[in-house]
Amino acid sequence: MEHDKIAVVDFGGQYAHLIATKVRRLHVLAEIRQPDDPVEAFAPYKGIILSGSPALSAFGEDAGYTKAIYDLDVPIVGFCFGHQEIAKHYGGQVEHGGREWGFADLHITAPHALFAGLSPVEPVWMSHYDSVTAVGPDFQELGYSTLGGGTEVQHRYAAIGSDRLRRYGFQFHPEVDDTLHGDAMIANFVLNICGCKPSWTMARYVEEEMARVRAQVGDGAVFLLISGGVDSTVAARLLGEALGPERVHLLHIDTGLMRKDESRQVVALLEGLGLGGHLTFVDAGADFLGALAGVVEPEAKRRIIGDTFVAVFEREARRLGIEHHLLAQGTIYPDTIETGGTKRADTIKTHHNRVPIIDAMIAAGRVVEPLAELYKVEVRELGERLGVPHDMVWRHPFPGPGLGVRLLCSTGAPDREGFEAIEAALAPLAAGSGLSLVPLPFRSVGVKSDLRAYEHPVLITGAADWDGLLRLAAGIYKAVPGINRCVWNLGPAAPASVAPRAATVTRERLDLLREADAIVMDGLRRHGLYDRIWQCPTVLVPLAVDGRGQELVIIRPIHSERGMTATPARLPDALLDALRRDLLALPGVSGLAYDLTTKPPGTIEWE
Ligand code: XMP
Repeated sequence: MEHDKIAVVDFGGQYAHLIATKVRRLHVLAEIRQPDDPVEAFAPYKGIILSGSPALSAFGEDAGYTKAIYDLDVPIVGFCFGHQEIAKHYGGQVEHGGREWGFADLHITAPHALFAGLSPVEPVWMSHYDSVTAVGPDFQELGYSTLGGGTEVQHRYAAIGSDRLRRYGFQFHPEVDDTLHGDAMIANFVLNICGCKPSWTMARYVEEEMARVRAQVGDGAVFLLISGGVDSTVAARLLGEALGPERVHLLHIDTGLMRKDESRQVVALLEGLGLGGHLTFVDAGADFLGALAGVVEPEAKRRIIGDTFVAVFEREARRLGIEHHLLAQGTIYPDTIETGGTKRADTIKTHHNRVPIIDAMIAAGRVVEPLAELYKVEVRELGERLGVPHDMVWRHPFPGPGLGVRLLCSTGAPDREGFEAIEAALAPLAAGSGLSLVPLPFRSVGVKSDLRAYEHPVLITGAADWDGLLRLAAGIYKAVPGINRCVWNLGPAAPASVAPRAATVTRERLDLLREADAIVMDGLRRHGLYDRIWQCPTVLVPLAVDGRGQELVIIRPIHSERGMTATPARLPDALLDALRRDLLALPGVSGLAYDLTTKPPGTIEWE
């Protein structure tokens, strides 16, 4: 059946995805569209939402997008930047200034269907530099803002609308949870103003997707590369339901870059799900380690891992005589659309379900991607529905290149480029905080202003409270050039020396990382924290601290909603004490640090 759909125009940042997930929770399908999509691409939608933008300004120069959408006879609402664009397009004015950031109160001046069921004053969340200062003839102010709890008007035209044109705008962000009744405002727009029927349910999705898969595969079969992560496991289960397990050939490649005991657990899980009949397990550790021998540079490692993956699966498919089956992948929505987020993420790190050979197979209709329309949270809901065990459904994401991107490598030469300027800029911050701030002589990958930043971390040593540490870290990224991470030393004292040593990806180092990672995961589970954090990479850096040991261990617990942004997660002291004791006791470990970096400027993974 055809579902009513909403288009969300992605002007960048995280907002569009957040809006789309909020609309989907209403059981209305929302799809991301690019600002320069031709107007015809908007034909299937019953309403359009223009997102905010972290970078664009509606003030001054023309923001290039398909303005012909304003000629369409469907309701349009804009949030923040989108709001200013709508005001401007219909004869209003936008000016620099009137900056608001954080909580504000929205005072609703005219009763309106957009605010049905809400109070006359609603807490909302603002983040803007430019403001609408006048509206065109068809428009009226629906609400103004004051500082939270205050009475002085901060901003007129915080909400505007024209019922004749069916065009609306909110200066605030209804999609963020800090806007208390933002979900109701979005629901009022989607269900009442656009009149969308809430037909897009997970039960329906399963039915329709199974029918689609059956139609695409015909009487053929598929093979699916299964890593044991949430996405590929849920995809396997769905394909098994749709086609019958005998037509789904599963291939699990142990890259040698997996976690401790992971491959064994994956095989047991798939057998438990009744999918073990056509499962081939390939131990390709030697292929991967051979290809990575001597390689240091992060992007080179990623490319080699991706290429080796393709080579191994082609070889195995031929060996098993399944090379003519369709290829199935557990690709999810954010990976399939060219959004700001993912388009830029591609330039930051190479992802491996969109390498050229796979793109060519997609173009030839030879790839089945049953989760391609879903966000992670929806994949999890689907998994629960299909009876995938809870622990598997809520497993932390694990990157395709595995521990390969958590094992930093080095030629052994200290990398101190720009250290003079870095140390000079750190000195006043160290004096002000009373903490030791030492730049480390190696780099990791991060993201600044949407670009890849391959820069140095700063090691912070000393007693400080959590909020103070995070504030200090934020100050460091701002004031110190060439720094994209801050890590907090969990070792006993500020090091007098840190010396890199030559190291690449070896089985011994991987085994050590597997042990360290298992200790961290076990600690999170024991403290009931596993389900409360998004991910916690453990990273090894080949550094001797004060002449001791060979590897600095970094733990990176984070909170995140979709992996596109992240904040560091705070771990309780009792867990940190246990980790200190157990990790520092591992042979060769020279120190332990806690990554305090938000994304941006750091990425979740270190490479
Ligand atoms: P970053 O490190 O870019 O990671 O902040 C964002 C999320 O993506 C995961 N990740 C990957 N997943 N293939 C994957 O399937 C990859 O190459 C890859 N690199 C990063 C990462 O673990 C986090 O959840």
